[in-house]
Parts: sequence; C-alpha cells; structure tokens
Amino acid sequence: MRILVINGPNLNMLGRRDKKHYGSDTLEAIEQKLNEKSRALGCQLTFFQSNHEGAIIDFIQEKADGADGILINPGALTHYSYSLRDALADSGLPVIEVHLSDINTREEWRRISVISDLAIRQVSGLKTESYLVGLEALAGHIGRHKKK
Ligand code: DQA
Repeated sequence: MRILVINGPNLNMLGRRDKKHYGSDTLEAIEQKLNEKSRALGCQLTFFQSNHEGAIIDFIQEKADGADGILINPGALTHYSYSLRDALADSGLPVIEVHLSDINTREEWRRISVISDLAIRQVSGLKTESYLVGLEALAGHIGRHKKK
C-alpha cells in the first residue's frame, strides 16, 4: 500500500506556529510518528510539503499513478483552492483530509473546505493525532477496496 502524505503552505513551520491550535510537534516529528504507524499498517509513505499550490498539484499529477491513496493537510488551500481540489479529484485516489486544529469551530472562513466533499473523511482538531487517525482510516479503506 503506497500512500502520499502531503502538507500545504506554512506547515513546514509547525513547532513555531500557534501551539493552542496546532500543538507543539514539528512536521518532522509528525512524519516520524506516521512512519512508525505505517510499519504496523503495512504501508509505505511518501512525504511532500510545499508552500506553493502549483508544486503540490505537480506532485499529485506525477505521483498519483504509483499510489493507492492520499493523506493531505492542505493548510489554508483547504478553504479556496479549486485547482487543488481538481487535482485530487483527477488523481482518482481515495483522499483523507486532515487538520491539526478544529477548523469547524474557528473563524467563519476556515469552516469552509472545498476539499471535504470529495474526501472519504475529514479528521480535524486532534492535533498530531488527526494524521494518525487519518492514516489508519485510509489504510483500512484501501485494504477493503484493493483488487484481489
Ligand atoms: C490547518 C487549518 C488551516 O485553516 C490553516 O490555514 C493551516 C492549518 C490545520 O491543520 O489546522 O495552515 O489546515
């Protein structure tokens, strides 16, 4: 099972961003925890972070064919990026959207996700645990739907 783990703008700054919303783990620490969990789940993770919408779209277009699913925290792109949404839809892969903070209880504009209706699940508000819950759900989904 090959999973792309994608992080959008500003998530390279985790550890220095508002800890009340995002916790204190760095992105590196989150990726390490995901790698540990992936071993138990039997999946292989490819990590990518960019502050640039187009670079994320290029990555999805390049890597989708060899992958079974996408775990993504799109950062603020969540709230307005129709081109990211299209790239995720075009990939044909199951997508899980994760957020460290609870976007549904923050500012009005953050409650909108242009991704959520194409994702099989949105996991929000559990800080680092959002990624771990999301990975487990995605691996379970892929396992159930994999062609025998
Ligand atoms: C975020 C929530 C977004 O609104 C914000 O722009 C982020 C991080 C989260 O993980 O809680 O950069 O996606």
